[in-house]
Amino acid sequence: VFEDSQAASRAVAKEIAKLIKVKQSQKQPCVLGLATGSSPKGLYSELVRLHQEEDLSFKNVVTFNLDEYYPMQPDSVNSYVRFMKTLLFDQIDILPENCHIPDGTLEKAEIADYCSRYESKIESLGGIDLQILGIGGNGHIGFNESGSLQNSKTRLVALDHITRVAASKDFAGLSNTPKTAITLGVKKIMEAKRVILLAWGEAKSTIIRTSVEGQVTNQVPASFLQEHNNATFVLDKGAASKLT
Ligand code: F6R
Repeated sequence: VFEDSQAASRAVAKEIAKLIKVKQSQKQPCVLGLATGSSPKGLYSELVRLHQEEDLSFKNVVTFNLDEYYPMQPDSVNSYVRFMKTLLFDQIDILPENCHIPDGTLEKAEIADYCSRYESKIESLGGIDLQILGIGGNGHIGFNESGSLQNSKTRLVALDHITRVAASKDFAGLSNTPKTAITLGVKKIMEAKRVILLAWGEAKSTIIRTSVEGQVTNQVPASFLQEHNNATFVLDKGAASKLT
């Protein structure tokens, strides 16, 4: 629990920088699982600062984003491709071919195959070294909504009403908000060697308490992380305020 989200984001960026450097010294790729949304914004700006001011190189980094709305054009203002490019990829020296984000432009019939190739690519690199997560008000991680199984694969999912309401401010209303998305499954998240979930503000405090102190249940996918052997919830005081 940190004083505020800035201090917390700096600490997480520091851990990521250390991992990138260890992997560099081993001449290994550093495989990062990345999230979008408001929670990791401070982390990404700190990583950009480390690149610009402290020469942190991302040349050995390979990223896999958790999710993308479906359907979604990459150049749309609300695409996660646009989000990642603007806030991170275009400001660091990562190789474009090393950045992976689920493709929101596929035909429906292509999605299942595409998702299994997304997972195979992660496996071929030895799995995710460090996964960054946010958390939805309903306990979703990625877009693994309530009811997602612990062994769920990367797939097309229907978004919960609460998730769509949260997103609707970006889409100028609920009627324009996508109903579906492609998400990395819970299984690949749980297979990551290290998981860091970020949550800020009192609005997240109830779901943080349920996820950390409640029963492990597929009604609250973030609760699965209680069974991960190297997962940390990184919180500000507000998000931690209901923990006992
Ligand atoms: C986004 C994602 C989602 C968000 C969650 C929290 O890639 O995977 O699970 O992390 O909806 O969103 P924010 O951070 O905007 O509160």
